[in-house]
Amino acid sequence: TASPPTDLVVFGGTGDLSMRKLLPALFLCDRDGGLDPRTRIIAASRDGLADADFRDKAAAAVQNSPAVLRAGDVDPLTLRRFTARLHHVTVDVGGDPDSWSALGSLLSPDRPRVFYLALPPMLFGRICRDLGAAGLVTDDSRVVLEKPLGRDLASARAINEEVGEVFAEHQVFRIDHYLGKETVQNLLALRFANMFLEPIWNSRWVDHVQITAAETVGVGTRRGYYDGSGAMRDMVQNHLLQLLCLIAMEPPASFDREAVRDEKVKVLQALRPLAGADAGAHTARGQYAAGRAGGQDVPGYTDEPGGAGPSATETFVALEAGIANWRWSGVPFYLRTGKRMARHYSEIVVQFRDVPHAIFPGQAASANRLVIRLQPEETIHLHMLAKEPGAGALRLRPAPLELSFADTFAERSPDAYERLLMDVLAGNPTLFMRRDELEAAWRWVDPIIAAWDGTEPEPYAPGSTGPAGAHHLIGRSGRTWHEEELNR
Ligand code: BG6
Repeated sequence: TASPPTDLVVFGGTGDLSMRKLLPALFLCDRDGGLDPRTRIIAASRDGLADADFRDKAAAAVQNSPAVLRAGDVDPLTLRRFTARLHHVTVDVGGDPDSWSALGSLLSPDRPRVFYLALPPMLFGRICRDLGAAGLVTDDSRVVLEKPLGRDLASARAINEEVGEVFAEHQVFRIDHYLGKETVQNLLALRFANMFLEPIWNSRWVDHVQITAAETVGVGTRRGYYDGSGAMRDMVQNHLLQLLCLIAMEPPASFDREAVRDEKVKVLQALRPLAGADAGAHTARGQYAAGRAGGQDVPGYTDEPGGAGPSATETFVALEAGIANWRWSGVPFYLRTGKRMARHYSEIVVQFRDVPHAIFPGQAASANRLVIRLQPEETIHLHMLAKEPGAGALRLRPAPLELSFADTFAERSPDAYERLLMDVLAGNPTLFMRRDELEAAWRWVDPIIAAWDGTEPEPYAPGSTGPAGAHHLIGRSGRTWHEEELNR
């Protein structure tokens, strides 16, 4: 069903995120009937583009988008209908306040307005203030904030304060695109629409949890941004902690915006603090060195363009988190993310405990494991042991129960941004981060980053599974990362 007619204003609308992700996602929403015919998409930038030029640029971006190409052929009529919704307005963000009047005169007085800030966070407060001062914020306006939302608790709070002076909390949509991924939402369905998992979803039955987001790419041209960030701020503070919340949260009373977020924030608040030597002992940091990966020579992190020589920024983090509550006490949550790794994949592994007593010869322990793959393929595997066929001695062999979403459902899996943009247009913030959630995540992350001060990340070879420290981190309890088990 189509969302209500809306004016969607994208600040930074001619920039990279808009061209690569937002416009292709909006095109697919439109193609699939998700946009009201009257909805308009207005790019606000300093570029001084005419509507026609912006439409050409957007059409090219849509046609070249991998997400669009995956979703089938682009019908020229559908594309033309989409680009007819597009407008460009020149706004001097942070500059001349008079330039806002052009935007004001374009907006319809009786439609909801969505202001999507696809610009660096230091501009968020300023844009919101200028929007407010120009009288453009109505009761049914919303603002969408892209990450990174600050670089620590203090800066995140400052941004939230500034935005909060103009928009009420229910109008603020903080995006974490991992929450828009199909399998991530499936995790909620798996846990809360089925009976069989809940009784064993706790420390009595679960040995530990692993959450991995591995990328084969390096930082590419983003070193300028990445140097002030690192893997902890770029991936762990947001995406990985959000996944941890969904795995660990209590069943909410309803699938309501506040009920779900109330439960997530409780998980973040229950994270065992890691600071000082404790942080050092429960984390491993790495930085990719130069070498060969994917059949070619690749530069080390410090040789990536846009940087200035040596850097203590981590491109890999592994850590062991603990949740201090009844359900999870004593269950380690191992989180890991890195660039220039051997394979590109994101997955969650819930490892169940060993059987209390083995009766079969050569029976391997750790037989049962639930593996939820977010990408590249969307699958859920339940690993178990079965009897190998044969009349001889009884032998066991691992045999997974497999659910592949692509094979099971004929429907296309939408891209994360499609889902999240449709939620913004429908005014549904369930899959967006509330202010207290974001701040709770920073509160846990800050002391860890502080404890790293003055330390160097451990170099690791490109195309590897990360630095030795990551294997030591999990290995000292006799456990291994999931792919090591597979490669054994
Ligand atoms: C972004 C990070 O939030 O997520 C990037 O800034 C990272 O560094 C990206 O590459 C990964 O997203 P995905 O959806 O490709 O796993």
